[in-house]
Amino acid sequence: MSDEKSALIERDQAHLIHPLHNKAAHTNGHVWVKGEGPYLYDFDGKQYIDGLSGLWNVTSGHGRSELVEATATQMQELAYCSGYAGSTNLQAIALAERIAEWTYPSINRFFFTSGGGEASDSGFKTARYYWKQLGKPEKTKVISRQWGYHGVTLAAMSATGISSYWPMFEPLVPGFEQIPSPYPYRYEAPEGVSQGIAAANELEQAILREGPDTVAMFLAEPVQGAGGVIVPQDDYFGRIREICDQYDVLLVSDEVITGFGRTGKMFGLEHWGIEPDMIQFAKAVTSGYFPLGGIGVNDKIAEVLDTGDAVWMHAYTYSAHPVGCAVAMKNLDIIEQENFVGQAAEKGAYLLERLQSALADHPHVGEVRGLGLMCAIEYVQDKATKAEFAPAEQIGNKVHAATQERGLFSRLRGDVFCLAPPIITPEAVLDQIVETMVESTETVLGK
Ligand SMILES: Cc1ncc(COP(=O)(O)O)c(C=O)c1O
Repeated sequence: MSDEKSALIERDQAHLIHPLHNKAAHTNGHVWVKGEGPYLYDFDGKQYIDGLSGLWNVTSGHGRSELVEATATQMQELAYCSGYAGSTNLQAIALAERIAEWTYPSINRFFFTSGGGEASDSGFKTARYYWKQLGKPEKTKVISRQWGYHGVTLAAMSATGISSYWPMFEPLVPGFEQIPSPYPYRYEAPEGVSQGIAAANELEQAILREGPDTVAMFLAEPVQGAGGVIVPQDDYFGRIREICDQYDVLLVSDEVITGFGRTGKMFGLEHWGIEPDMIQFAKAVTSGYFPLGGIGVNDKIAEVLDTGDAVWMHAYTYSAHPVGCAVAMKNLDIIEQENFVGQAAEKGAYLLERLQSALADHPHVGEVRGLGLMCAIEYVQDKATKAEFAPAEQIGNKVHAATQERGLFSRLRGDVFCLAPPIITPEAVLDQIVETMVESTETVLGK
């Protein structure tokens, strides 16, 4: 590290608190100064492949001048106005109309937030409002899943099933329950039932345990992202939809990562032909060029919002931000014109196939999995038993360090290495990712 960069890190440490703050981990941190296409550049001029598209969001890649122009034009015209009932703006109207065309047919009404965690809270409160209006005020509980990630507000954290997010902030908000993830690599189904059905039936058991009259919603990512790119079995979500219908529980799809093309479909549940009652989105809607997220609700919920006898007292200063909506509109042009859905499907299949053929036989690679342009490599101590490495061995972190030496930057969940590069990433760069993963794996774990 250059002296100049060390000095920057020192200044940073004097005054900044970071997400997942951990002073020791930051001592060797990156100071990012530039992005271009699929690459990031740090202060010392070193180029890195952006292996996770920032935090899964920069699907259009860095340095898109169209998005810069859309931002500047809208800031010049109208930088901010209230979005509270009684006020609207041209960009928000156009964006809501457009997402309605793109998403599940029954979801046609949208509320905009600044990001995914606010979308989660908006969903919880909307579900409560909906059931209260229908005369079922006891239906307030949220069921979610282990390894799910839904954000860091206290309620979103309580729905998050990655338990390392909890201990220092507990107690969790009451009324949040979790069921196991369908996790094909690890879920053990009883004899005679498919893994997907057994994992979905965990929801039915939880609803019955809690009492159907107390459960408002089930929250799930179509593919669990931050939890380690967990792709469910093909029969899982169909059964989930049946259970939600049977017990009058809203099915909420957290599409914060999977929305807008990442999985090779525009929205994740399209893979299994079912529709949720509500969606949450953020990240790729603006490709990270502006903080924007939101929820979309189906026509039944919209009707209740329109006719309810109580005002839905839920608001953010930056809801329906005109600049965010303008950036999103331009980004959706890019997604459409450059066929991100097709690109993610094709490039994702290519990357997964290459990673699998290069690494699946490695004695410490338990599984290489993915869907669309999101995938993960799960390292294990014992391939036969699927036993994990002891946390003290820090295998994931060692692989992460080795990839960074070779110019690839991404993120992990323990010893699960996640990859989700920008959708514009050229094939030659995907090849470089594969080579880096193979070299880094062999450097840390041998051949
Ligand atoms: C599925 C999912 N939901 C919600 C969130 C929270 O979004 P934010 O960090 O914008 O609050 C994330 C963030 O990674 C996510 O992956």
